[in-house]
Amino acid sequence: MFNFQEIDKKNTKKVLELVQNRWGSDFIVSKGKKHFISDLDGFIVLENEEIKGLITYSIEGTECEIVSLDSFKENLGIGEELIKLVETEAGKAGCKRIWLITTNDNTRALRFYQKRGFVIENIHLNAIKESRKLKPQIPERGFGGIPILHEIELEKEL
Ligand SMILES: CC(C)(COP(=O)(O)OP(=O)(O)OC[C@H]1O[C@@H](n2cnc3c(N)ncnc32)[C@H](O)[C@@H]1OP(=O)(O)O)[C@@H](O)C(=O)NCCC(=O)NCCS
Repeated sequence: MFNFQEIDKKNTKKVLELVQNRWGSDFIVSKGKKHFISDLDGFIVLENEEIKGLITYSIEGTECEIVSLDSFKENLGIGEELIKLVETEAGKAGCKRIWLITTNDNTRALRFYQKRGFVIENIHLNAIKESRKLKPQIPERGFGGIPILHEIELEKEL
């Protein structure tokens, strides 16, 4: 049974550890900006006290950016539930748009988001070259061995 909670002081350390393991640092780069996970709001999913998924987001004005989304137990609805929680928060905060960046190699995320109402709004060609200046840990190749080159921006109107 999954238990969804907000990220708070009790679980930040573990969240940072998980993000660090998956993404190589305690920050995420999108559109040339560093987002430190410890500065962001978000939600975790617990099963027997263990984190099985997490999402972080940033609200600026009427826009909400999903900065990170990770499911550590896939195909059970965790990812979908996490984005729904953020959509609800964004709606309450008066956001008109929810958006995110993923990279060209992440075909699973592209499928996942597009099936849930997000549309590709922009492709930032070769943006990862700039991202690597802020985060040299970004590997050359990503999912399926695909070279990581471009940022793909997806959005959903609320
Ligand atoms: C993308 C990602 C977050 C999806 O998380 P997830 O927990 O697997 O997501 P869900 O379980 O909600 O949905 C995945 C699939 O499982 C299916 N599913 C959900 N519950 C299910 C169940 N009980 N039985 C069978 N299938 C199920 C969903 O229908 C969905 O399939 P679809 O995309 O064809 O519609 C996850 O793959 C991940 O962490 N990837 C690596 C990190 C990443 O890429 N993050 C996003 C970058 S911004």
